[in-house]
Amino acid sequence: MMSAALRTGTKPLSRAFSSRAVDGFVGAVGNTPLIYLKKWSEKTGCTIVGKGEFQNPGGSVKDRAALGIVQDAEARGLLKPGGTVVEGTAGNTGIGLAHVCRARGYKCVIFMPNTQSQEKIDLLRMLGAEVHPVPAVAYENPANYNHQARDYAANLPNAIWTDQFDNTANANAHYATTGPEIWEQTEGKVDAFICATGTGGTLAGTGKFLKEKSKGKTQIWLADPPGSVLQSYIASGGKLKERSGSSITEGIGQGRITQNLGTLVKDLDGAFTVPDDKSIHMLYDLLDNEGLYLGASSALNVVAAVELAQKLGPGHTVATILCDGAYRYQSRLFSKKWLEAKGLQDAIPDHLKKYAVLD
Ligand SMILES: Cc1ncc(COP(=O)(O)O)c(C=O)c1O
Repeated sequence: MMSAALRTGTKPLSRAFSSRAVDGFVGAVGNTPLIYLKKWSEKTGCTIVGKGEFQNPGGSVKDRAALGIVQDAEARGLLKPGGTVVEGTAGNTGIGLAHVCRARGYKCVIFMPNTQSQEKIDLLRMLGAEVHPVPAVAYENPANYNHQARDYAANLPNAIWTDQFDNTANANAHYATTGPEIWEQTEGKVDAFICATGTGGTLAGTGKFLKEKSKGKTQIWLADPPGSVLQSYIASGGKLKERSGSSITEGIGQGRITQNLGTLVKDLDGAFTVPDDKSIHMLYDLLDNEGLYLGASSALNVVAAVELAQKLGPGHTVATILCDGAYRYQSRLFSKKWLEAKGLQDAIPDHLKKYAVLD
């Protein structure tokens, strides 16, 4: 079956090649490397590893969720050939969905707040998506981009609203792929897993698999940026406070328990909040020491993994997620002016300031 799918024109791929090739974009999602982070492993006496999700074909961890949600809708008969996939998103999920839709022959429609950069809109359009920038209004307002996406899909035949926050096909994709991959790549020796959450799909799906497979031995922790309420929710045993404050990180932080996070939240072992100055310092440090060019959520995850390693003590293995590369954020993260405007110039030690090459 595979070799039939892998034909170039009329010429079938050679046997040796086709047995190693994957089936297009969809086949290239997942099976990312687990990357050993040498400096921080040596400093803590632990093994700290990051799942290299920036190597997914659409460039982020969200390719897994996008594919999982589309495959689930197909399996349930909600999406048929020629159908339309609709999402309200400003970030990586839209990019993942746009790719998956091209690969599967669906139309992709994205609603996003009109405060988003032209680059993001252009990228989605280049990937073939129809983009609707709409006024940036609060979630309570029916004109919010999420509600507009839901309503648009509801009024169109053969269309789905992917609903990434509350559609648990998102977490299930990580339960089926990210969790087993980490288990295999650590040969079952993973003492703890920690990452930040946006929808909660990555943490809940991966965490649930690792908890079950280790018979409860693997600890699962949540990492929170400033302005998110989850750390206090977990520390207080379930009290949800009003959301306030903000962070330079993108794609993470949450004001509620989504359906995806809800599948694991009671079994979490703890949570850390990581301030932006530590995340930005780590972002530059990972570039300098490991040659890794990562987005801010990945850097935050590594800070949290190091703090968890210190808490657990030497000899433990701690895994986290390297969600995406810095390419989508470089005009900010490596700009002196932007760092200054955010009050973060002093977070970067002098020997690392050479990487902030943009004005
Ligand atoms: C860069 C980045 N990091 C982390 C996340 C969080 O992943 P999840 O939605 O699975 O919680 C996202 C989600 O969009 C993201 O774009």
